[in-house]
Amino acid sequence: MNANATMQIVRSVAELQNILNPRQREGRTVGFVPTMGFLHEGHLALAGQARREHDVVVMSIFVNPAQFGPGEDYEAYPRDEQRDAELAAAAGVDYLFIPSVEEMYPHDSSIRILPGTQAEQLCGASRPGHFDGVLKVLLKLFNIVDPDESYFGMKDAQQLAIIETFVRDFNLRTAINRVETVREEDGMAKSSRNVRLTEQERKEASAINRALASGKKSYYEGVPLSEIEKIVSSAIENHTSGTIDYVKALAYPSLDEDFSDADEVIIAAAVKFSSTRLIDNIIMSTIKDERK
Ligand code: PAJ
Repeated sequence: MNANATMQIVRSVAELQNILNPRQREGRTVGFVPTMGFLHEGHLALAGQARREHDVVVMSIFVNPAQFGPGEDYEAYPRDEQRDAELAAAAGVDYLFIPSVEEMYPHDSSIRILPGTQAEQLCGASRPGHFDGVLKVLLKLFNIVDPDESYFGMKDAQQLAIIETFVRDFNLRTAINRVETVREEDGMAKSSRNVRLTEQERKEASAINRALASGKKSYYEGVPLSEIEKIVSSAIENHTSGTIDYVKALAYPSLDEDFSDADEVIIAAAVKFSSTRLIDNIIMSTIKDERK
């Protein structure tokens, strides 16, 4: 552990920019981990990698209202600042940026950032405007922190693919690092929203990962991708009380429906339980010969 006894909590944009001012950085590199808090080992894996690779580690915690739609769980999103601060310090974070909504959005801002076709699939289809809000807050955070590298989890593979495109297409300075999904012992992807599952749902939820893994296995046994979606959907339906929002195979990271030229394919799933919605995915290399 790189426990950081001197971690500083920063709440204002001006203060953070002052701290990270290029003149004060003196050539030290900055690794950045944006989060919405209620930290778990997934977030901490991102911070751990940033710690190993950079002189200065900045983590942000901001439950971003712009990426929640009406009727979604903005209000109910779990929050625990004190525990988060302890975990972030233990992971070696130097600066924990926790702005208020007023600090991040001090006035009504009608400017929108529209992600392209990648956002039309999966969560983008189920949550209209979600990725507009993600890109909006990230552009602000990237401008405030000016990191050399930023760290994102494969758990949110669509988000990661859209961010990679955004950074490339707009010549943003930060590099983007992909970090593997951290899982519970039973395979369920760690998520801040897992605490909103009932005990029974929590037990069932590991079936999502098992279903995705069985889809991957079937694919490598020669089952065509068009069939894989059905296999994964039935496995989730048979083993959970949740309702499937989507189970879909797409080229990754283009998220194109046509995977004939793709090197990798994602099978992504979203499942609604009584008071929360979980997502997970698995990425597989395409089998070139068998696709012909
Ligand atoms: P949040 O859901 O808090 O996730 C913050 C980062 O942690 C994301 O990059 C996410 O992919 C990663 N993460 C979450 N669970 C993970 C797991 N089990 N293993 C590995 N990484 C995991 O994603 C967001 O916040 C927001 O949309 C944000 C990017 C901060 C913009 O508001």
